[in-house]
Amino acid sequence: METVVLKVDPERPDEDSLRYAADVLKRGGLVAFPTETVYGLGALISKREAVKRIFEVKGRPLDNPLIVHVSSVSMFLELVDSPPEDVVRLVERFWPGPLTVVWWKRSLVPDEVTAGLSKVAVRSPAHLVALKLIELSGEAIAAPSANRSGKPSPTRAEHVVSDLYGLIDVVVDAGETIHGLESTIVDLTASPPRLLRPGALPIEEVEKALGVRLEIPHYARGHGEAEVALSPGMKYKHYAPEAELVVVEADDYSAKLADVVAKVRVLASRAKEGRRRVAVLCSSETRDEYLDLGVEVLDLGSRQHLFTVAKRLFATLRELDAKGIDYAVAEGFEERGLGLAIMNRLRKASGGAVVRV
Ligand code: TXA
Ligand code: MG
Repeated sequence: METVVLKVDPERPDEDSLRYAADVLKRGGLVAFPTETVYGLGALISKREAVKRIFEVKGRPLDNPLIVHVSSVSMFLELVDSPPEDVVRLVERFWPGPLTVVWWKRSLVPDEVTAGLSKVAVRSPAHLVALKLIELSGEAIAAPSANRSGKPSPTRAEHVVSDLYGLIDVVVDAGETIHGLESTIVDLTASPPRLLRPGALPIEEVEKALGVRLEIPHYARGHGEAEVALSPGMKYKHYAPEAELVVVEADDYSAKLADVVAKVRVLASRAKEGRRRVAVLCSSETRDEYLDLGVEVLDLGSRQHLFTVAKRLFATLRELDAKGIDYAVAEGFEERGLGLAIMNRLRKASGGAVVRV
């Protein structure tokens, strides 16, 4: 299959291009499109065969449900079974934006989308291209991240092309995504509401809006595996580069940053002696500490601006592969605000290879 790549301006996308992409969706095709978080691989929810093909082309396990993307709160209300006032208020507060809510589905949402579950995950993306595509299609779009299963999520159209070229119909290319990290997923049917995946919307904001603390299971921090019944999809290895990745963590990064650096240096030097191609993933504050090692030093950004670190993380993980790195050591980050999502992704990318100082 020829994959058509359509370049559009993220702020003023060409109407004809989006109409073309919407027509492909209406005919049961697969379209990768940008959202404010990462690129998604979309099919209309009513096109069951197309939804099944999403699993095939991604190599996605069949028990891992998809997020449904809507362009308005009223579209959400058509898909879910009478959510209470506080659920509606929450989505009105954060949509369009990087918050995905899980609620009981109506029969309108096919089982293929939810992998047979009675709950559906829904969000409204804060990206003009995504919103217009949903509107022109006249229907909600089921879309996981547009990467091969297990790879880092795509933050640029080039990443989608590299993973899925020839397997999907269209890639709408609107350049780099804004957050570079997926949405925050909260199961609102649980009491207290349960964080299924930390993401681009810090949970502190969700907790403030709801007036309750979320339950944060260990897998939401990137440790171990989830019970399939509670959180499908959280049990698989994710975001993994080809390189072996080790994360060096501390319980207090202001007090122990020097210890973290020392440990990263030891691990990186030892690997280099073993003649491996080695990289260090670090913060701007510490990058100079590694320059003498003769390894690749990849600066994710400042510890004071975790937005930048989050934004660069997936692209940097992909860069490891592009550079042929076979061993990488990453500094950990404080688990507050976006740090919670950053550490979830790093721990998962490392397959649990975590060293504490
Ligand atoms: O930012 C994002 O959320 C991106 C963009 C494209 O919107 N999408 C994304 O989708 O990250 P995906 O499939 O890569 O991750 C969706 C996660 C999966 O871990 C899945 O298990 C969970 O959402 N999920 C989907 N439906 C669910 C449900 N009904 N109950 C519990 N978890 C669900
Ligand atoms: Mg994904």
